[in-house]
Amino acid sequence: MTQGICGSVEPSWSGGSISKSDPSRVELVVVANRLPVKQSMSLGDDEWRPSPGGLVSALTSTLQCRNGLWIGWPGVAEHREPPLTYKGIRLKSVDISQAEYEDFYLGFSNATLWPLYHDAIRAPTFRRAWWQAYRNVNMRFATAAAETIAPNGTVWIHDYQLQLVPNMLRELRPDVRIGFFLHIPFPPSELFMQLPRRREILAGLLGADLVGFQVPNAASNFTRVARRLLGATGVSSTLDYDGRTVDVGAFPITVDTTRIIAKASDPRIRERAREIRRNLGNPEIVLLGVDRLDYTKGIEQRIKALTELYADGTLRSGQHVVVQVAVPSRESDAHYDLERHNLEQVVSAMNGEYGRVGSPAIHYLHQNLPFDELMALYLAADIMLVTPFRDGMNLVAKEYVTCRTDLTGKLVLSEFAGAASEMRGAFMVNPHDLDAIKETIRLAMNTGSKEARDRMVRMRHKTLRRDVHDWAHSFLEALQPNES
Ligand code: G6P
Repeated sequence: MTQGICGSVEPSWSGGSISKSDPSRVELVVVANRLPVKQSMSLGDDEWRPSPGGLVSALTSTLQCRNGLWIGWPGVAEHREPPLTYKGIRLKSVDISQAEYEDFYLGFSNATLWPLYHDAIRAPTFRRAWWQAYRNVNMRFATAAAETIAPNGTVWIHDYQLQLVPNMLRELRPDVRIGFFLHIPFPPSELFMQLPRRREILAGLLGADLVGFQVPNAASNFTRVARRLLGATGVSSTLDYDGRTVDVGAFPITVDTTRIIAKASDPRIRERAREIRRNLGNPEIVLLGVDRLDYTKGIEQRIKALTELYADGTLRSGQHVVVQVAVPSRESDAHYDLERHNLEQVVSAMNGEYGRVGSPAIHYLHQNLPFDELMALYLAADIMLVTPFRDGMNLVAKEYVTCRTDLTGKLVLSEFAGAASEMRGAFMVNPHDLDAIKETIRLAMNTGSKEARDRMVRMRHKTLRRDVHDWAHSFLEALQPNES
């Protein structure tokens, strides 16, 4: 048992059943594509495990405090019955059929919206047939929320998979407060205008009382197209549409700083970090990348830049070592399969060319690592490389900076990550420019410890001011109706 942030005691994991409470008493419902637990897919392992990612730790304590409920999909079409609760939070599962998995999840969500919202790094695919599945699944989530929420309760909907839910829910339950938060970028109008069904998507979002984005730029991209396409009026933070007022704002997500700082001072994790460096051959510099294996993350480009740094002698095997963790993601999608294939080619080319027996140039892990191991890797790394082509926020950058409690370590960060606007002390780079990546890594390697420390202090100052619970509270507070 641990102490929760609202002063209550957090029960630990509960996979068993609880007596069903009166559903009308749910004052706060979170709606996200994924439940906070997912069925493990390992052979012979039929456990439910916490879903990875920041959202679960961001919302767990808030939902516990408010006796809340989480609506989501268990992550696979054929699954066993999910648990009724997770850490005391009630769960309600929404099923998605195999055909919907293909059209709603792989199709409209991840082949249309995901690439379009990420600067069209891959050409978005538009198929008319996917739209119906997107609508149907969104309606299923909206109905599940409408059936569960108490009169005048609060529903908080998350991310690009569920952009129609706000308005669908408003039609079913006009009494409730509805918030929507987009975790990924919202594209500039030149790109958004390409989207077939763009008006429906905007009208879906404008069904919310509050629409939140990671950064102010995304919020203004949204208000611009809402004015242009739907005739919404008003200033940038408040739109008038369809006789209602919709608040719009930036709520940059962050990490669980208390938890990460505790991990960073845990002797077992510190010892594991030393062991990792020993296993790597005690190099002078460890360069680390940790990303979901996604074409938006710029991993292949980064590895090409590192290979050229080995080629020109800036990096030397034995003295320097690269570690790249690529977390498996969306593996049934052909784009992701191709990305993995390409990545593994450049990794093996780098090792073939520049590795030595017993000291490879790059250590590549295509694995889901436990959080503690990730922390140990962050502690072991001298230079963290975060170079996505486009990213809503990027929590890896914030996790790295948060755990460097001794103020060492350097961060190379893409200008196109949401985190860039808060991390002025990072070594900023245009991830599309291979020469610039090389130059920036060189600069980071050559920067002395005093300047590196100053940079880290600046980054930590900004990052540690708020934690993920503040993020959830600030969104929910902004969602409350104005008293005036
Ligand atoms: C991003 C999205 C999330 C998504 C996660 C993992 O962080 O913003 O909505 O859940 O990627 O992707 P997946 O498709 O596995 O849910």
